[in-house]
Amino acid sequence: MRLTVIGTGYVGAVHAACMADIGHEVLGVDIDAERIAALTSGRPPFYEPGLSEMLVKAVTTGRLSFSTSLAEAASFADTHFICVGTPQHPTTGAADLSHVEAAVNGLAPYLHDSGYERILVVGKSTVPVGTADRLAGRLHAAAPRAELAWNPEFLREGCAVQDTLRPERLVVGARSEQAEARLREIYAPLLDGGTPFIGTDPATAELVKLASNSFLATKISFINAMAEICDVTGADVLTLAEAMGQDSRIGPRFLAPGLGFGGSCLPKDIRAFTARAEELGRGESVAFLRQVDEINTRQRSRTVDLARQLVGGSFADRNIAVLGAAFKPRSDDVRDSPALAVADAVRRRGAQVRVHDPEAVDNARAAYPALQFALDVAKACEQADVVLHLTEWPQYQELDPVALAAVVRTPAMVDARNTLDPAAWCSAGWTLRALGRPRLG
Ligand code: UGA
Repeated sequence: MRLTVIGTGYVGAVHAACMADIGHEVLGVDIDAERIAALTSGRPPFYEPGLSEMLVKAVTTGRLSFSTSLAEAASFADTHFICVGTPQHPTTGAADLSHVEAAVNGLAPYLHDSGYERILVVGKSTVPVGTADRLAGRLHAAAPRAELAWNPEFLREGCAVQDTLRPERLVVGARSEQAEARLREIYAPLLDGGTPFIGTDPATAELVKLASNSFLATKISFINAMAEICDVTGADVLTLAEAMGQDSRIGPRFLAPGLGFGGSCLPKDIRAFTARAEELGRGESVAFLRQVDEINTRQRSRTVDLARQLVGGSFADRNIAVLGAAFKPRSDDVRDSPALAVADAVRRRGAQVRVHDPEAVDNARAAYPALQFALDVAKACEQADVVLHLTEWPQYQELDPVALAAVVRTPAMVDARNTLDPAAWCSAGWTLRALGRPRLG
């Protein structure tokens, strides 16, 4: 089938490459000409395992091409996926829908003039509930043969390709059987592989996404709130999480305590959901999400406090090594990165901070020019008074605590992600501290 993907950011670039990979002919469209040029030569605009290879293959076979023209999109295909961003409004926290509106409004006149009998516009962006129905009316007025459906995206950065090719579910909110049938056809290779399909109305589809991200954020903040209780009772949050996770009704995933969540989705989505619920007069229904957000932010200041204790109460003239800048491992994304928020807070309190990350240094430097960066761990840790492990890249688990002890000034470590082996570090002479884990050596 032929289809277009409008917006080639995280969701769009991955969706376009994966749709080409399962056999469709795809045109990716973006207003950013530089990005389109890079994608055309097979270079993704961000680091994502497996994407580069897939892009090169799809572009070389001719199944995937790129353009900056919405007119070309309208004549290329009769199905268009909208994958543009919905950033957070700086003051209200609500979702900024200007990119989604610009894409739909920009495309509509060309759709009107295209020769296609039945046109389907499919939103994948994360939007406030009610957006699809509002935009559908406008789209239909401008292009009467066009229909709007919503098909939220659940991919995680770092495993985006796998999440797109083998999703845990496909959710489609559509107002006609034809629209749902077309999406079933597009996703046929995934459905044949056993992916569950949930067909519903657009409002429910939009809500599935917001509710899922809110639930995940709540689960993380729940265990981090328990870490705060552990800190004043002498209990161990890691054992607590392990025992809770054994209950199959709770499950172990997204129950990893530590520095909390960041990135371009969970923090923004819970704030946008809160703003939308308030608009709908139902603010009290999701009032707990404000606490979820507060608990999450508090873990950043608690990590700073733990580091301050380890350097004797003041950061002035202290050397601090930071391991990790990306908001999570296997990504070079630093948007709302908890690691960089902590690194910068420590710097602002007078410390010399050197940050290491295997992939995210360029993005981190652009976002936080006042921080210093090191290309290897030993350089970051040279003469450090404390090392802060803030993003759990697998290679940090392989570090040799004995060798690193010889590089630092004081062998003191805050493991804010709980993935280092306390026995190995403590027996190499390190003082190890973690939130909610009072019993470490
Ligand atoms: C999240 C959702 O997991 C995806 O399903 C969704 O599609 C995506 O947002 C989106 O809305 O586009 P993502 O932001 O890529 O995906 O990252 P996650 O794997 O969810 O991690 C989010 C944050 O939570 C990271 O900072 C991670 O370190 C943190 N986290 C995760 C914890 O602190 N504890 C955990 O137990 C799990």
